[in-house]
Amino acid sequence: MTDFLRLAEDIAREAGDMLLAKRPTMSEEVATKSSPTDVVTALDTASEELIRERILAARPRDRILGEEGGEEPGESDVRWIVDPIDGTVNFLYGLPEWAVSIAVEVNGQVVAGVVNVPARGEVYTAALGSGAWLGDVRLRCNTGVPLAQALVSTGFGYSVARRAVQGEVVAAVLPKVRDIRRGGSCAIDICSLAAGRVDAYYERGVNYWDFAAAGLVATESGARLGGLRGRPVSPDFALCAAPGLFGELHDVLVSLDPERDA
Ligand code: IPD
Ligand code: CA
Ligand code: CA
Repeated sequence: MTDFLRLAEDIAREAGDMLLAKRPTMSEEVATKSSPTDVVTALDTASEELIRERILAARPRDRILGEEGGEEPGESDVRWIVDPIDGTVNFLYGLPEWAVSIAVEVNGQVVAGVVNVPARGEVYTAALGSGAWLGDVRLRCNTGVPLAQALVSTGFGYSVARRAVQGEVVAAVLPKVRDIRRGGSCAIDICSLAAGRVDAYYERGVNYWDFAAAGLVATESGARLGGLRGRPVSPDFALCAAPGLFGELHDVLVSLDPERDA
């Protein structure tokens, strides 16, 4: 497990360094009149290609699921789950909240996860049963926070119809909590919860590569990660918080029927 984590961390750091060096600045884009979106799309692909190459060089038989390249079938019990840039809109705008996320699964269970946040110089890591870490600091999520005092982060999908419902839901949650944050990276939102920087996180429509690595960081910090009504976390719904707050926020969310479409 430590070997998986070490390899995942080395690769996430290398991809992060490449992205930091090559990330576009708005002024550059204005000067060259090229589209910043194209540059970001190219870097998304370049980051995933670098990650795939490094994984396969070290472990040629493993399977890889990446946001950009999809899944290649294979025989191995080991599967790597990759989001080459989580928080692409932040990356595009020069905001620091973007990450390289790499998780390692063995027989369907995530055993190691790394979320590298290059613009902040922060690397979150976790190995199953060995705790969650920010650099060499052990992480424990906040506990004992009542809903009314909770700082809750969330996110919104790209589809307009879904956003309308997400807007309704967040409007109903807002008066019941301390405040809301929308950071723009699911992986960082969940790692921030592990670090006690927020108390809870929920979102509809996030994908496995968004939360696979961060989910292990959160659960190893003492948080509960799941879906609604006893279901496991999935693109249908992701909810994360210390167990008591998880239950309180869960009940509010269920009453708002947040999985419906407009
Ligand atoms: C997105 C981010 C965002 C979340 C979206 C994701 P991307 O991933 O995690 O925070 O709200 O649902 O799609 O597109 O930046 O990799
Ligand atoms: Ca993502
Ligand atoms: Ca992405």
